[in-house]
Amino acid sequence: MSKFTALTPDLYEYLADHRSDRDPLLAELAEETRHLGPISMMQVAADQGALLTLLVRLSGARRALEVGTFTGYSALSIARGLPPGGTLLCCDVSDEWTSIARRYLDRAGFAERVEIRIASALETLASLDRSEIFDFAFVDADKENYSNYFAEILPRLRPNGLVLFDNVLWGGRVIDVEDARAGTRAIRALNDQVRDDPRVESVMLAVSDGLTVARKRRPEELKG
Ligand SMILES: C[S@@+](CC[C@H](N)C(=O)[O-])C[C@H]1O[C@@H](n2cnc3c(N)ncnc32)[C@H](O)[C@@H]1O
Repeated sequence: MSKFTALTPDLYEYLADHRSDRDPLLAELAEETRHLGPISMMQVAADQGALLTLLVRLSGARRALEVGTFTGYSALSIARGLPPGGTLLCCDVSDEWTSIARRYLDRAGFAERVEIRIASALETLASLDRSEIFDFAFVDADKENYSNYFAEILPRLRPNGLVLFDNVLWGGRVIDVEDARAGTRAIRALNDQVRDDPRVESVMLAVSDGLTVARKRRPEELKG
């Protein structure tokens, strides 16, 4: 018997229904985002949001980074996992979409602890002080820059910190040999890069459209 259980829509409903800590504000945000139309597909799934909260909490992260905020579902999920005083820096190019995120983050009490910077994320990352170190990073933006985000974020991640990449299965297109589109090639390149980089320990999870979780190894793990 295969160790992999293929998800049907009904089985996914069941799975999503069995997460704890339902947040009515996240449900309201998902509903408002749904009214934006097909673009709402960009939002992370509810189980993925719950996983983000859990991983942030489990890792003890105090300073988090998000690349690709949209209307704020993942940002709010990450912020929910932070301890009192923990902070999140969100990078996005859209004022319009992140104004929705801002509204929900403020309502959840994160007005002071979540900053949203409107600029290309690579510009924002380049503008940060060298001393700016993150414990947790979630990347869910322009796929063509995934490798650049990995290169920029890893030096800014504390040892044992986590960096996550969304959409790493790209609807299954990563294994379609006939698909040579830029986004597909970029995700394949990122997936190989993360797997082969000795600085991280990583696993690709079949959550939603594929989620890579990579931990930055501690210096003592890299010796020898
Ligand atoms: C898939 S959506 C993010 C979804 C979000 N994580 C959520 O849970 O709702 C991708 C976002 O990346 C943003 N984006 C695209 N290119 C970007 C760039 N170069 N720098 C920063 N953000 C970018 C888009 O404006 C969009 O809001």
